[in-house]
Amino acid sequence: MKMPRPTPPLLLAISLLVLAWPASCADPVLFPVSKDAATSLYSIPVRDGANHVVDLAGQLLWSTCAHDHLPAKLSCKDPVCKLADAYRAPSCRIAGRPCKKKCTAYPYNPVTGKCAAAGLIHTRLVANTTDGKNPLQQVSVRAVAACAPRNILASLPKDVTGVAGLSASGLALPAQIAANHRVANKFLLCLPRRGEGVAVFGGGPLFLQPGEAVGDLTTVLAFTALHTRKGNPLYYIPVQAIAVDQPPPVLLPAGGVVLCSRVAFTALRPDVYRPVVDAFDRGLARNDAKVDKVGPFELCYNSTMLQNTRNGYAVPEISFVFEDGKRWTFVGSNSMVHVDGQTACFAFVEMKGVKAGDPNAAAVVVGGFQMENHLLQFDLEKKQLGFAMVPSFSECSNFDFTNSQY
Ligand SMILES: *[C@@H]1O[C@H](CO)[C@@H](O)[C@H](O)[C@H]1NC(C)=O
Ligand SMILES: *[C@@H]1O[C@H](CO)[C@@H](O)[C@H](O)[C@H]1NC(C)=O
Repeated sequence: MKMPRPTPPLLLAISLLVLAWPASCADPVLFPVSKDAATSLYSIPVRDGANHVVDLAGQLLWSTCAHDHLPAKLSCKDPVCKLADAYRAPSCRIAGRPCKKKCTAYPYNPVTGKCAAAGLIHTRLVANTTDGKNPLQQVSVRAVAACAPRNILASLPKDVTGVAGLSASGLALPAQIAANHRVANKFLLCLPRRGEGVAVFGGGPLFLQPGEAVGDLTTVLAFTALHTRKGNPLYYIPVQAIAVDQPPPVLLPAGGVVLCSRVAFTALRPDVYRPVVDAFDRGLARNDAKVDKVGPFELCYNSTMLQNTRNGYAVPEISFVFEDGKRWTFVGSNSMVHVDGQTACFAFVEMKGVKAGDPNAAAVVVGGFQMENHLLQFDLEKKQLGFAMVPSFSECSNFDFTNSQY
């Protein structure tokens, strides 16, 4: 079948993708974020309401192929093709063939590690703009996506048709929205524990209900550096140590700390896990309330015997300590998980298949449960991560998605 040729303006727009836009001039773009109970993955409805799993390490926007897709005919030399080609997941063996005629991308399932060779298509993201308080108006934003065979969807939530990559790569969602909707290349992420959280591309402000009490949450962000490494799609943050209430903190050896929305609970490399778990156990000092462990968690307690506060159970705080002494702190609501009606466990797990101290493995992979109900701002222009805990009387699912103008 003969496909229509892309029109020149479209081509122009795509080549502009690789150029940095100087200043923002449009309203940021809003997506609701939901959490799938079965897989603990988060997703956003990016393409005509079709849900896509968000992957902070994802390089592409990809969906299963549909008949009405408009193929993007890109030469191997096209900058967009170079972007598509730039990173191949290590588990993706079919990747690595040089581009000969047709530009090929390698969509990757972040849960199974499966990948496929796929063509690129032109598509449109349909979403509302926002002033940070409500949706404003519907917009349609051009984007380039990969169109993948259905079988690589295995193990993703049932209502999902693809993955929305949120990495710093040029074909991931933040850069595409920044280029084609002319907003700053930064995004806010407020992952929900339940209900609908919020992702905003282009930056703040952000208000959660009750609005008068919470105020613009982007004004209370603390900042640290956001690093990326060559040939590696992960976001790294320069954590020096993990503090468990009382000093001395657990110093972090080589390996780095990465943010990973597709991991349910923060995983600590064995050499980091042991001292952190032991410090938590000592700090809480509730052997009387301990019950049998419930895998993958080691420290579990009879929850009816733990003291409750507005911030979850009264347990030692876990903090990531940065170079300048700044801390990103996790209270009971982010450090204790209910495994059943009577049992709550310390929600950090030991990294599997990795040796203690292996400098090639991350020391800490920060998972979704710990990021929930924190506002995170990924500023890819300033290479900065902003972080703030949502106040206990609100939560990420308190964004007002209604708009009186509709
Ligand atoms: C935009 O917001 C309105 C009002 O809340 C809503 O009805 C509509 O579904 C939204 N559109 C998209 C694409 O999210
Ligand atoms: C938890 O503690 C409550 C109150 O002390 C007790 O009734 C219950 O049997 C305990 N449950 C377990 C699983 O130990």
